[in-house]
Amino acid sequence: MKQILKAADIESAVKEAKNQHLEIGLVPTMGALHEGHLSLIERALKENDLVVVSLFVNPIQFNNKEDLEKYPRTIEKDLELVKSLELRVKSDSKAKELLAFTPTVEEMYPQGEPKEVYHFGPVEEVMEGPRRPGHFSGVAVVVRRLFDLAQPTRAYFGEKDYQQIAVIRNLLEQIKYPIELVPCPIVRADDGLALSSRNMRLSPAARAIAPTINATLEQASEMAEYEEVDDVKEWVLDTLSSFHKVNPSLCPNGLKFEPEYFEIVDAITLQPIASWADAEKNGAVGCITVWLDGVRLIDIVKF
Ligand code: PAF
Repeated sequence: MKQILKAADIESAVKEAKNQHLEIGLVPTMGALHEGHLSLIERALKENDLVVVSLFVNPIQFNNKEDLEKYPRTIEKDLELVKSLELRVKSDSKAKELLAFTPTVEEMYPQGEPKEVYHFGPVEEVMEGPRRPGHFSGVAVVVRRLFDLAQPTRAYFGEKDYQQIAVIRNLLEQIKYPIELVPCPIVRADDGLALSSRNMRLSPAARAIAPTINATLEQASEMAEYEEVDDVKEWVLDTLSSFHKVNPSLCPNGLKFEPEYFEIVDAITLQPIASWADAEKNGAVGCITVWLDGVRLIDIVKF
């Protein structure tokens, strides 16, 4: 693994790789790496000749200043994790080179805050879109910069940020770059909690009950075999909202789940469905956002 600080150095490595007709895998991250990120990097190493992992906390995708400030920054540890992953999967890896791109904000945005704005139509008008104005445009700006620099054959994104994948798919249609979008499954802790950089902000009591989110979604997926969409939605929201009343001993000091939304949507268009038949073609996905202990957690379930 080689750490790269300058965009120009990524460009020259990519130019050389392109001259040799090598395949390039890009894994965009904001650092604070966990096994979920490592699974994306591992897959990229297996499928490409050169892998670029970016570690960059992108300020323009945060619509909340406090969230940006609180975002964990663990760059030295991240680089160690990437290095040891590279050694661990060496025998299975196609990639001959792994570049960890760790630019500063000035390096990424040399002209200052970018002015470009992206719109994605219906896929951004639901769930996270209205709740985090400007977020997806900010994601698109940085992802496009990374696409321009790394010119990847494939780009790897985790399915936990399910709506982000739909947005990137839409971005690729708009900019017409021949990049294969590779959605990768969520990696979970042994108790089912979806791995997230935010989990490290949970108190021990909150961390102990957080797997209830996934457990509730799994039960919802069983219910989907015999219940209507609206009933499943209502049950999920009620189960989480009333958890602290049913389990007071597990919820000290006012700890409780506060679901922001749970939507059951078409897996590609992301439009809410009214009946299971509405998602016959693409499948249905349940997307949830829950506040717990001041931390905003997201998860999904495929129906
Ligand atoms: O999913 C993330 O970590 C970020 O949104 C991404 C894609 C790295 C862009 O900053």
